[in-house]
Amino acid sequence: MILITGGAGYIGSHCAINLIEKNKEIVIFDNLELGHIETVETLKKLGKVEFYKGDLRNIEDIEGVFNKYKIDAVIHFAAYALVGESVINPAKYYRNNTFGTLNLLDTMVKFNVKKIVFSSTCATYGEPKYTPIDENHPQNPINPYGSSKLAVEKIMNDYDRAYGIKSIKLRYFNVAGADSKSRIGEWHNIETHLIPNILKSVIKKDQKFKIFGDDYNTKDGTCIRDYVNVEDLAQAHFLALSYLEKENKSDVFNLGTQDGQSVKEIFAICEEVLNQKIEVEITKKREGDPAILYADSSKARNILKWVPEKTIKDSIKKAWEWERVLKTYVEK
Ligand code: UFG
Repeated sequence: MILITGGAGYIGSHCAINLIEKNKEIVIFDNLELGHIETVETLKKLGKVEFYKGDLRNIEDIEGVFNKYKIDAVIHFAAYALVGESVINPAKYYRNNTFGTLNLLDTMVKFNVKKIVFSSTCATYGEPKYTPIDENHPQNPINPYGSSKLAVEKIMNDYDRAYGIKSIKLRYFNVAGADSKSRIGEWHNIETHLIPNILKSVIKKDQKFKIFGDDYNTKDGTCIRDYVNVEDLAQAHFLALSYLEKENKSDVFNLGTQDGQSVKEIFAICEEVLNQKIEVEITKKREGDPAILYADSSKARNILKWVPEKTIKDSIKKAWEWERVLKTYVEK
C-alpha cells in the first residue's frame, strides 16, 4: 500500500487519482486543516482508497497509520506552503514541514519502510543566479518556507546514509490546472496563486484581480514563472516511485515545463479561454517575488522519462471548469 500524506490537498489528491487509475492501493493521511473531506470522498468512489485522519506533528498519529496498514512506500505532500505566512510565522513552518517530516522519517525507520517521494520546491533555490534553473543551482532560500523544505532534503540525504531510506526529492515550479474530469482541483481557503485569483475575480465581482508590479526587468514588466500542469506533475510522482522501486537510489529532480510565462501573458490566456475581458488593477510588487523563475527539467525527462503533455492553456481551461464546480461546493 502507498501512503500519501496530504492526499486531501491540491497536488496530493491529483497524485492519488493518478495512482488509483493505475489500480494502486493507497491510504491518505491528512489532518484536514487545509485538505478537504469532500476530496477524500470523491477519491474513495474511484478505487481502493483508505483515509486516516492524523497530524504529522503527532508521532502517535503516524505510527497509527503504519500500524494499521502495510505501507510499502510514502509520497509526502503534507505541508504549509504560503511563502508570506512563513516569514511572519516561521515556527509554524519548521514545526510542521520539518519536524513533522522528521516524525514521518523516524516512523519509516521503525517500520522498515525504505522509499519516499518528497514534495520539495523551487523556493529552495532562492533568488536565481541563472535561468533556467537546474538541480545544481545553489540552494539559498529567501524565506522560511523554502528553508523548511531544504532542511528536509538534507535530512533525507542523512537518513539515506544512516538508515538506507531512499528518497526522491521533486522540486516543483508553479503548479496549475485541475483534474481533466473536474472531479477535484485547487481548493485553498486562502487563495494566493495567480491563476485561481484571476478566475475567482470573474466569479466574485467584489474581488478584483491585481497584478503585483509591472516594472520588473522582464519583456513586459511582469514576473515570469514556469507553470506545470498538476496532472503532469502527478504522473512525475508515479514515475519517481517506479524509479525508486527499480533503481533503489536517492535523487532529486526539477519539475517544470522549461518555459516561462509572464503574469500579463497568463492573464491574456485567461481572457482568451473565458472569451471575455477581465478587470485588472496594477498594484505594488509583492515582497520576495523574484522576476524570473523557470526550470531546466531535462534531468526528469531523461532519467524518469517524464513528458509533460499539457499546455498552459489546457491548465487554465481545466482550472476554469473546476472553479465552477468549486463554486457549487462553497455555496452548499
Ligand atoms: N501574482 C499576481 N497577482 C495575484 C497572485 C499572483 O500578480 O493575485 C503574481 C505574483 O506576484 C507572481 C506570479 O503571479 O509574480 C505567480 O504567483 P503565485 O503566487 O501564483 O506563485 P509563486 O510564484 O509566488 O509561488 C510558487 C509556489 C510556491 C513556491 C514559490 C517559489 O506556489 O509554493 O513558487 O517561489 F514557494
